Amino acid sequence: MAKPREVFVCRTCGAVQSRWLGKCPDCGAWDSLEGERVEKSAGRDPQRGVVEAWRASGADVAELMVEAKAGAAGAPVAVPIAQAAGKQSPARRLVTGIGELDRVLGGGLVPGSVVLIGGDPGIGKSTLMLQAAGLMGTAGTSGHEVHRVLYVSSEESAEQVRMRAARLGAAASPGLFVLADTNLARIVEQTRKVAPGVLVIDSVQMIYKADLDAAPGSVAQLRRCAAELVYLAKLSGIAVVLVGHVTKEGRLAGPRLLEHLVDAVLYFEGDRYHAHRILRGVKNRFGTTLEIGIFEMTGSGLKEVPGGLGVGVLDGDPSAREAKVGAVVCPVMTGTRCVLVELQALTATGFIGAAKRKSSGLDPNRLAMLIAVLEQHAGLRLADRDVFASSVGGLRVGEPAADLPLLMAIAGAHHRRAVSPGTAAVGEVGLGGEVRAVTQIEQRLREAGRLGFARVLVPASQTNVKAGGVEAVPVKTVSQAIEELA
Ligand code: TYD
Ligand code: MG
Repeated sequence: MAKPREVFVCRTCGAVQSRWLGKCPDCGAWDSLEGERVEKSAGRDPQRGVVEAWRASGADVAELMVEAKAGAAGAPVAVPIAQAAGKQSPARRLVTGIGELDRVLGGGLVPGSVVLIGGDPGIGKSTLMLQAAGLMGTAGTSGHEVHRVLYVSSEESAEQVRMRAARLGAAASPGLFVLADTNLARIVEQTRKVAPGVLVIDSVQMIYKADLDAAPGSVAQLRRCAAELVYLAKLSGIAVVLVGHVTKEGRLAGPRLLEHLVDAVLYFEGDRYHAHRILRGVKNRFGTTLEIGIFEMTGSGLKEVPGGLGVGVLDGDPSAREAKVGAVVCPVMTGTRCVLVELQALTATGFIGAAKRKSSGLDPNRLAMLIAVLEQHAGLRLADRDVFASSVGGLRVGEPAADLPLLMAIAGAHHRRAVSPGTAAVGEVGLGGEVRAVTQIEQRLREAGRLGFARVLVPASQTNVKAGGVEAVPVKTVSQAIEELA
């Protein structure tokens, strides 16, 4: 008999290697490879466990099955695409009642789909899902229907979940069911009994399958449990939400392993020490991944931050604030919305040849490029200066339109000068020191105007755009922009 083959799977990124290595060659994580037995002969169908459990329940299965038409065996058959509709109309969405979450999902949860919500421990994933579950289980003020939601907690006891729900105002939700269990078979069984529209598994890393010879939290368990839950969703039309902790290191397999399995992947980001949280879609089979949702963590749960409020910018009228050295506000586009973000820079004495360039929430390559442009085209000497740059509030800013404000923040920090209060800036900086046009300038100006900014420095080619009652100040070159620093 052939020996069972063993492969090694990275707990962080899911890459498969044929032998053990100290460092994953794909993602660079150390000591993250874990052995996984490949059973050739067993030929176990990962769908079998769920299907059997579901089938055993009897009559209502056929009705629930998406592939009901496929015949007694339940195997799917090829059909013309026009007839490929399941039981659920594809346009139907389960609105969660949290506007920011719905927008990132593309309008709500799709029945029969699986959504993965990842994020660092303690960022607020459980809070968000419990709030959403509570709202879905209640007749909404916004008029959405009541859905039955089963919230499976594999980390907390039912009592703990109830206490948290009470704090979040979700404890009296008539449609919300709680189950504290980690055994997949029992969870499927309870799901069948409750017959919810939405099933939340918090967290999927703690779930295990008893017949699998691997520890809970291992790569093999996580993959297998998630695959069965995906199949459960397809089979029953239940929208499944999987919560997964991002693990820097340690024993838990990370949610990135599951990205290819699920229909949508959302990451909950933000600085644990800041109140703002950002929900970002990185994969979505039913919508765009450009959208973000902004939340604020308060004593009574997560509060939505309505349409494009400035992150870390707004405390009072921007024109009334005092000028800040080394800080420039930028209207940043994220999906269809504009967010005002303060970019900050600091220069300090460093050593030539070993000067530090550090950034937080910004692209380090972009920072290096802007420093080079400042040296070449604005005559700044930064070779022996450490340069630190960050985007305030924890929003990651990646778009080139943030070049100009970041460059001005660095120059301002170096010369100890500031832009006048109530002034924002936007523009891409080219290697020749020219300021280039950006997309959606009108929306950026409108948003800046709405939040009280009086002037926005814009690329010279775009001064014809008028919006929001703000003064669009043309800048053609980097040196011209630096003259704006008073
Ligand atoms: P949690 O949702 O448990 O994070 P995760 O599930 O992602 O691990 O909670 C995150 C943090 O939020 C927790 O440490 C405390 C804080 N928090 C509040 O500030 N207000 C609240 O109402 C709740 C429920 C939590
Ligand atoms: Mg949690």
